[in-house]
Amino acid sequence: IQLHITDLSGTERTITVAPTGTLMEAIRDNGFSDLLAACGGCCSCATCHVALAPSDIVLAPASDEEDELLDSSDERSMGSRLACQLPLMPAMDGLKVRIVEAA
Ligand code: FES
Repeated sequence: IQLHITDLSGTERTITVAPTGTLMEAIRDNGFSDLLAACGGCCSCATCHVALAPSDIVLAPASDEEDELLDSSDERSMGSRLACQLPLMPAMDGLKVRIVEAA
């Protein structure tokens, strides 16, 4: 699947990944150092904050834990998610993702 990733400097790059693992892993493993993902995906750091562009893609809703962590960020927006909480799936092909500055 293809994902369009925008880093903190505003540069967009398209990556092609297999729909396995999480969105956080896909971004991190493709050389985006802007996504800190400090806790390694345990849903405890909120440094894998991303904003998803509006799309028809249906994603699993955020858990209470994810929701609370996102609330701790001043940068929370409509499309905000923690990338480590989003398993990749074929339907995510073409998703536009912007990395959000960690609080
Ligand atoms: Fe820490 Fe996602 S990597 S919450």
